[in-house]
Amino acid sequence: MLRALRNHGRLGRLCAVLTASAGLLTLQTAPALATPDTAEASGVDAQAPARTPLKDLTDNYVGSAVAASALVNENDYRSVLTDEFSSVTAENAMKWSVLEPNRGQYDWSGADAIMDYARQHGKSVRGHTLVWHKQHPGWLNDLSASELRSAVKNHITTVVNRYEGEIRAWDVVNEVFNSDGTRRDSIFQRKLGDGWIADAFRWAHQADPSAKLYINDYNTGWVNDKSNAIYDLVRSLRQQGVPVHGVGFQTHLSIDYSFPGGFQSNLQRFADLGVDVAITEADVRMTLPVTDSKLTTQADYYERLWNACEAVSRCVEFTTWGYTDRHSWVPNTFDGQGAACLFDESLNPKPAYNRINPTA
Ligand code: XIL
Repeated sequence: MLRALRNHGRLGRLCAVLTASAGLLTLQTAPALATPDTAEASGVDAQAPARTPLKDLTDNYVGSAVAASALVNENDYRSVLTDEFSSVTAENAMKWSVLEPNRGQYDWSGADAIMDYARQHGKSVRGHTLVWHKQHPGWLNDLSASELRSAVKNHITTVVNRYEGEIRAWDVVNEVFNSDGTRRDSIFQRKLGDGWIADAFRWAHQADPSAKLYINDYNTGWVNDKSNAIYDLVRSLRQQGVPVHGVGFQTHLSIDYSFPGGFQSNLQRFADLGVDVAITEADVRMTLPVTDSKLTTQADYYERLWNACEAVSRCVEFTTWGYTDRHSWVPNTFDGQGAACLFDESLNPKPAYNRINPTA
């Protein structure tokens, strides 16, 4: 009920219809593509009604991280993405090391490809990420404190300006706390001191006053030292008038651990600070091999994430970190783990998808 009254309403629906038509046009020009609407892809009778895509089940943005290369090179990957999702996040293409590997030499190819796709298909974009202790270029390490400060300001200003008005939300800072709630000892923290986070938000806001600015982190789905530190920081930044608008919960989960206790009420306590909250990088990995019982547990976890976001009125986005097991960071990152996404390698929906989508 609340959800129906909130935000875009009719306009959101109209956009969904227009986007659906755009999806059909794509299909007509590329008839060989496997899509969830084809009998081959779904394994159902051609007469059976097509399922409602995820993006039309909710007023929230439903997103996926995208690998720029897959988006450009794989028609079937692009087609299912277009059908099912209303938002995209660059999995790597907007990270500093990718954009500016050498000082002053920019490579916008991946980021621009994602923005072009989003414009063509009416997708919302989450920008990820402006300042992170990983995937930043090596040349930063050689800078003095004042040079680093200028470089951070210049980076934020350049990137946010380039896509001004087109990126709905930016992960301004990513993973800035340790699990014990102390500040992570990154080059930014070490050389620039505590104030660097407030500065980063102010610079991003100057570059695009319309973008929602987020702090994003993992293992923050329950009340713990890290989530408490983010809570305290956001409250204090807002008291100082720093433009922080949202808190992102990565939610990289594993069925080998229990589901984060009190997940929904934890989202709610952040929302009660007066900011938006978003599930920004959801995936639910498992120790391989896959079994039916593991897929059922995975479905439980995804359903609980989805339902929590639906239940918190300021939860505005449910984004998964990749939507298909064909392209997932999990097997490359966690030994012996995988199968973390909603769709399998062949882009067939898995039990978790069917659990979230009652029309599937
Ligand atoms: C990951 C990408 O998925 C990988 O391809 C890359 O090698 C490393 O980064 N938290 C984040 C994301 O905020 O940027 C990370 O993405 C996953 C963890």
